[in-house]
Amino acid sequence: MTERRSGHNKLKPSLLDAVSRSSKTAEKMTRFGIRMSRKTRQTVSFISGVVIGFWIMLTIMTHVPDKDMTSPVSSTSEWTPGVPKEGWQAGYGPTSLESNQKHIYIGVMTARKYLNSRVVAVYETWGKQVPGKVEFFSAYDPKHRTPRGIPVVTNIPGIDDTYPPQKKSFLMLKYMHDFYIDKYEWFIRADDDVYIRVDKLQKFLRSVNSSKPLYIGQSESSQKNERLSMSSSDSFCLGGPGVILSRETLRRIAPHISHCLKNMYSKHEDVEIGRCIKRFANVSCTRASDTERIFFNDLKCYKKGSVQHLYPGLVQHVITVHPNKGPKDQYKFYTYFSALRLEVLQQRMLELFRTIDKMTNEL
Ligand SMILES: *[C@@H]1O[C@H](CO)[C@@H](O)[C@H](O)[C@H]1NC(C)=O
Ligand SMILES: *[C@@H]1O[C@H](CO)[C@@H](O)[C@H](O)[C@H]1NC(C)=O
Repeated sequence: MTERRSGHNKLKPSLLDAVSRSSKTAEKMTRFGIRMSRKTRQTVSFISGVVIGFWIMLTIMTHVPDKDMTSPVSSTSEWTPGVPKEGWQAGYGPTSLESNQKHIYIGVMTARKYLNSRVVAVYETWGKQVPGKVEFFSAYDPKHRTPRGIPVVTNIPGIDDTYPPQKKSFLMLKYMHDFYIDKYEWFIRADDDVYIRVDKLQKFLRSVNSSKPLYIGQSESSQKNERLSMSSSDSFCLGGPGVILSRETLRRIAPHISHCLKNMYSKHEDVEIGRCIKRFANVSCTRASDTERIFFNDLKCYKKGSVQHLYPGLVQHVITVHPNKGPKDQYKFYTYFSALRLEVLQQRMLELFRTIDKMTNEL
């Protein structure tokens, strides 16, 4: 409980303020509480239903077999040479897996050599929790077969696995726009070695207006980096811990992506995305005091390949954790954050039991 409450409250003054929060987050559970405390038998059975629901959720939440894992995927694993001229040519298209929620789209940049390691780990942990859709972007290679059931997009002309992945990143954004702009509210560019706490991400984004041009992540002043054609007051979002674009931002930059690709001033993919967004969407990466704790990028651990541990103050805030290069570390964080979530749900269940108890006595 403490984790949930304090974490949520402390988010508000800084990042949430910076993205000018819309005031639609109402605590549904609290409302239930007030209404129910005055009600009778009918309500008791209703709560019991809720409690049983929770109980079922608790028992299955960590190991529910995901039906998506077994369904076929339409990702055409065919390389077609050429560059898209107007829109996308026949044969290119989204993969079929999509949850019925239309909130968040996450594009994960990966490479052929990670299809059977990092990609599987992401998809089996936070990837399958996304309220919307996740797709992985890699070059196509017949020798590296896509793991079954995982939505990998390999058919965008011009995408290869060269590093830095500027082309992959820009073309991925174009793809997101062309296929999904009206389907999702938020578009995230992620790496294959980031852990995303999807429940916290969703809660945060639900309280922000995606019709505004927003560009959210761990901001870094462009001063430190290639500043060409960016002023020192501009900032870009670091790529590693994930970059969030509102629908409006993606809509604004999409027509200019080929221009941005032709006019790059550095080898840093995230700087170039930032430059493009600044120029065509007129926004900088949101600056707030707490973004380093929310989008956590541990440079000290970078060489070790994974974040060793989170310090206590961080756990309340953190939404993304980077880097976790080894698949094992993704499962480690998945277990850890699932346990935290479980605690919150158990606490809530206890509260409901107490309410039932009290009401039964009053009857
Ligand atoms: C979201 O932002 C748009 C554009 O600024 C505005 O028209 C709309 O009223 C806002 N919606 C809410 C719920 O604040
Ligand atoms: C860009 O944004 C700034 C403030 O954020 C505003 O003053 C300016 O008019 C905007 N420019 C364009 C071209 O929309």
